[in-house]
Amino acid sequence: MHIPVLLNEVIDNLKITPGKWYLDGTFGRGGHTKKILGAGGRVVAFDMDPEAVEAAKKSLSKQIETGNFIIFHANFNQIDEVLQQASYEPPFFAGALFDLGTSSNQIEDSQRGFSFQGSEPLDMRMDPRLGVTAADLVNALPERHLKNLFWEYAQETQASRIASEIVRQREKQPLTTTDELVAIVTKVKGRRPDRHIHPATKVFQALRIAVNTEMDNLENMLKQVLEWITPDGRLLVISFHEGEDRIVKQTFKEWERQGKVSQIQNKPIMPSEEERQENHRSRSAKLRVCQKQ
Ligand SMILES: C[S@@+](CC[C@H](N)C(=O)[O-])C[C@H]1O[C@@H](n2cnc3c(N)ncnc32)[C@H](O)[C@@H]1O
Repeated sequence: MHIPVLLNEVIDNLKITPGKWYLDGTFGRGGHTKKILGAGGRVVAFDMDPEAVEAAKKSLSKQIETGNFIIFHANFNQIDEVLQQASYEPPFFAGALFDLGTSSNQIEDSQRGFSFQGSEPLDMRMDPRLGVTAADLVNALPERHLKNLFWEYAQETQASRIASEIVRQREKQPLTTTDELVAIVTKVKGRRPDRHIHPATKVFQALRIAVNTEMDNLENMLKQVLEWITPDGRLLVISFHEGEDRIVKQTFKEWERQGKVSQIQNKPIMPSEEERQENHRSRSAKLRVCQKQ
């Protein structure tokens, strides 16, 4: 079960007005959406994972019937295209939320290679319509590209040795499953019993970001989303990765300089100690909020 991160902070900062429309760009299992609906807001949601969309249609069938909830199986980097095709006109939303990354359901249940426990196909596509899988990348990218990818998207300090070992192994036989990749990374890095974090965490994170073009999605979404938000409406972005947070921070700053938004706080909102204890996934979460002028 996915536990929504920074739930109270999101709801406080969205300042929900009953009857108004909010955009949830990353439905997941709807933890945030359900709270927005509960506060009287109406929601248009996106998710690129068909399993999330199915879950939404089941768990929120009543709200779909009453016209308070709509979900699109789409990438949030296509907000303009999807909403325009559905005859929406900007500005439409009193607030928007993007809770980036993967849901616990994707990691734990999807069998699509997000987890380094067990043996799953080395896939990692959040949307099966995407063309390139993690296996395609590890089997085809030149060693130098693999190394850069592990370093740039996850600051993996053993990037070079891991890339070289992957190339050595794939020359014998292409990699197809997660446990093969885990074995390579563990061989290079070793398993330190004192470390709680799995040695393959960073390599998996980097591949997932690359397969799903997560940085590009974020940048493209930020180019489109502001015009969809009504004056005084707020944009909230939760990121779990330094690179993503940097993009959000710099974009908000630039918008503020241009007089498009006011920045609510310079520092990101982080989970309380209690939330960090209860939900380990929340530990790296950073919420940034801005308000449209
Ligand atoms: C962290 S989860 C969201 C969890 C949700 N807030 C909840 O409380 O249940 C992120 C979700 O966003 C989806 N996602 C990630 N990137 C996306 C994108 N570019 N477009 C649409 N959905 C995306 C993932 O498939 C995943 O279901």
